[in-house]
Amino acid sequence: MKISVIGCGYLGAVHAASMAELGHDVVGIDVDEAKVEWLSRAKAPFFEPGFDDLLARTLATGRLRFSTDFADAAGSSVHFVCVGTPQKRGEYAADMRYVQGAVESLLDVLKVGDLVVGKSTVPVGTAAALAALVESKVPGALLAWNPEFLREGFAVQDTLHPDRLVYGLPAGADGDTARALLDEVYATIVDRGTPKVESDYATAEMVKTAANSFLATKISFINAMAELCEATGADVKLLADAIGYDDRIGRKFLNAGLGFGGGCLPKDIRAFMARAGELGADQALTFLREVDNINMRRRIRMVELAREVCDGSLLGKRVAVLGAAFKPDSDDIRDSPALNVAAQLQLQGAVVQVTDPAAGDNIRRNWPQLDVVDTPEQAAHRADAVLVLTEWKQYRELDPAAFGKLVKQKRVLDGRNALDREAWTAAGWAYRALGRRAG
Ligand code: UGA
Repeated sequence: MKISVIGCGYLGAVHAASMAELGHDVVGIDVDEAKVEWLSRAKAPFFEPGFDDLLARTLATGRLRFSTDFADAAGSSVHFVCVGTPQKRGEYAADMRYVQGAVESLLDVLKVGDLVVGKSTVPVGTAAALAALVESKVPGALLAWNPEFLREGFAVQDTLHPDRLVYGLPAGADGDTARALLDEVYATIVDRGTPKVESDYATAEMVKTAANSFLATKISFINAMAELCEATGADVKLLADAIGYDDRIGRKFLNAGLGFGGGCLPKDIRAFMARAGELGADQALTFLREVDNINMRRRIRMVELAREVCDGSLLGKRVAVLGAAFKPDSDDIRDSPALNVAAQLQLQGAVVQVTDPAAGDNIRRNWPQLDVVDTPEQAAHRADAVLVLTEWKQYRELDPAAFGKLVKQKRVLDGRNALDREAWTAAGWAYRALGRRAG
């Protein structure tokens, strides 16, 4: 099939290459010339394991290309909208101008029988409004909503092997046409027996925001338990293991620590609350405000803990911050809890050295006031405290004995409950973590 993908960020770039991998003829379109240039040269503009290979492989087939010109979407019959929906400045609501702009631009190239497929995370009600717009300008063109559940760090795997497909379809015969086109796009995935849920637009839109809200709630639940563990001397990691054995609860997304960040969960729960308010159903989601509060409190607690171990004052203390991306295997620093803590420590007088295996350049570009070094060893040089704030494998595998020779004080704060506490304490480190007793 001939497919266009509008927006080539994490979602769109991976989606475009994945659709080419499935055998389609794909053009990825983005207004950012530099990004298009990079992608066209088989270079990923962001860190995503496996993506460089996929890009090189699919570009080499000739089935994938990138362009800044919307007119290049003209020959395609299916058009995926993959642009961002960031939080509006000073408001909880999502900024919808990119989605709106993408669909309006598509109106010039759409023809009868074409299908516009929304993948962006949007406030419920968006698809119905966009479908009406498409129908009014290009009668005979259709719209479906097909949310995406990919995680950064697993984007390629999640796109090519999703755990479910959700189709938000128009009613009646148009729905049958849209379903048939989507089934053709995803034939390889559908034939594998991947579960498929077909629904109206509103349900499909809500599946995405509900899923992210549930995940955020699960993380904040365990972090609330961590607060109680701190008050009682209990151990949140053991608690998570024990409740996680219950299948109904499950151990995934019960890792207590610095909490959630990134370009999705924080802004999605806020946009969901804002939309509920507009619909007069704000009471249903007031709990998400508490989820957000618990999450933000973890960052404050981490700074307090750092002050505590630095004998009550951060002034002039050398602090090594290991990890700055919002999660491992990503260079994404959007709303990163790690970076937030690093910045607060510096503002409160600490001499902070930040390191991250992938996010270094992004920090230098966006946070020029922070000192970034290349390795954990450089960061730890003569440090009064070492904070592990993103659980990269390299940091989990550090040798605490050798690492201990670099620092001034063997104090480690495990912001993600990711280190082997026994190994670090055996090597003479004072170990602290959120929700666990001092070791
Ligand atoms: C999230 C969802 O997991 C995806 O399903 C969704 O498609 C995506 O948002 C999106 O909306 O596009 P992502 O933002 O890549 O994916 O990151 P997650 O793996 O969900 O992690 C989010 C944050 O939660 C990270 O900061 C991570 O460190 C934190 N986290 C995760 C915890 O603090 N504890 C956990 O147990 C798990």
